[in-house]
Amino acid sequence: MRTTVGIVGAGPAGLLLARLLRLAGIDCVVLECRDRAHVERRQRAGVLEQGTADVLRAAGAGERLDREGLRHDGIELRFGRRRHRIDFPGLTGGRSVTVYAQTEVCKDLIALALADGCPPLFHSEVLAVEDVDTPAPRVRFRRGGREEVLECDWVAGCDGFHGVTRGAVPAGVSRVHGRTYPYAWLGILADVPPSHDELVYARHDRGFALLSMRSPSVSRLYLQVPEGTKPEAWTDGEIWAELSRRLETDDDWALRRGPVTQKSVTPMRSYVHEPMRYGRLLLAGDAAHIVPPTGAKGLNLAVGDVVVLARALEHELRTGSTELLDAYSATCLRRVWQAERFCHDMTALLHRAPGATAFDDRLQLARLERVATSRAAATDLAEAYTGFPLG
Ligand code: FAD
Ligand code: DHB
Repeated sequence: MRTTVGIVGAGPAGLLLARLLRLAGIDCVVLECRDRAHVERRQRAGVLEQGTADVLRAAGAGERLDREGLRHDGIELRFGRRRHRIDFPGLTGGRSVTVYAQTEVCKDLIALALADGCPPLFHSEVLAVEDVDTPAPRVRFRRGGREEVLECDWVAGCDGFHGVTRGAVPAGVSRVHGRTYPYAWLGILADVPPSHDELVYARHDRGFALLSMRSPSVSRLYLQVPEGTKPEAWTDGEIWAELSRRLETDDDWALRRGPVTQKSVTPMRSYVHEPMRYGRLLLAGDAAHIVPPTGAKGLNLAVGDVVVLARALEHELRTGSTELLDAYSATCLRRVWQAERFCHDMTALLHRAPGATAFDDRLQLARLERVATSRAAATDLAEAYTGFPLG
């Protein structure tokens, strides 16, 4: 099999890249190890920056997003049983975010791929990417028990943090930065209307809690739990009780409870692989970088990468110039490091580390107080949350 751009992974990065390349008339093939239902149901991100929503619209994936996506003009920070709203448009000159689940983004992009007559090849597990430092890279994959080879001009590694493409960068070239955190997020999906009309990020002495949503009738909630916690360790009743405690306020706000339909634990890490390009291999999205989820940046970064990548590939294929591809890694990494900083700081601002001292707690509360009372501090948060410009 042969194509111009071989894309590994049908998460948001791979699916959107394929769509952008097809719109530019560039031939590509997407290889995905899982099946369609798995990709469409995997519960993950929920918040789209304005720039991300605009990219999806321009790619023709905006119809349902505009109908069903929920525009959010702010978030609430809760600490010391009090509530502080961060007003995005007022602080950023009109910017907002859209709550629209990653599952729905993937469904919309897969539907477009089917309509274009180029669906991802599901059940196709990439085993290795070879010869990326030559003009003829190859992607070896297994489908239906048989090994096959995809020959291409360029390989896009969109296979997430646990993928294989990053492994094709020689050890002497890779520079890896990052850390893990001593806590994780226990996330639930519940059939109950959200208890607040905006997202609530809560700092509590017992740990962080987040109230989010998927639709007017479905809530998404998260609790900070110790690293390594198994979802079964918490009963639904215990989860609701803990959420109520951590989200509690001095006014008459109350958490609505309902049937829990999904429960999972997400580890937290910061990770950056530099460079994002080696020869004809281009890494994008979680394959190149991970942020802790506080700050809702992962999906947005993946979208930013593939916009830069699609533009660079189109430029090379039209003009023969690799100028934009040569700049790809540095262009993306500028934005990636801003998101790394923001997500790290949001995580440190809101989570309670094991062994935190009274001094640590006071500093954390002083930082929160600053965001709640200083327009400059709130603006800094609002600008980062609503999104950094694409490179
Ligand atoms: P992925 O979505 O991981 O896709 C990679 C794909 O590659 C997968 O489909 C995988 O099956 C496939 N693959 C892997 N290995 C192979 C192989 N060998 N062969 C073939 N295919 C392979 N981000 C936000 O922006 N906002 C949020 O609100 C947010 N909240 C989050 C909440 C949680 C609980 C979690 C876990 C993440 C959250 N994120 C959020 C992060 C976001 O989900 C990820 O950053 C995003 O999925 C990255 O997309 P991707 O396409 O790069 O990688
Ligand atoms: C969601 C996830 C996040 O990481 C976040 O910061 C906000 C919302 C969500 O899944 O809804």
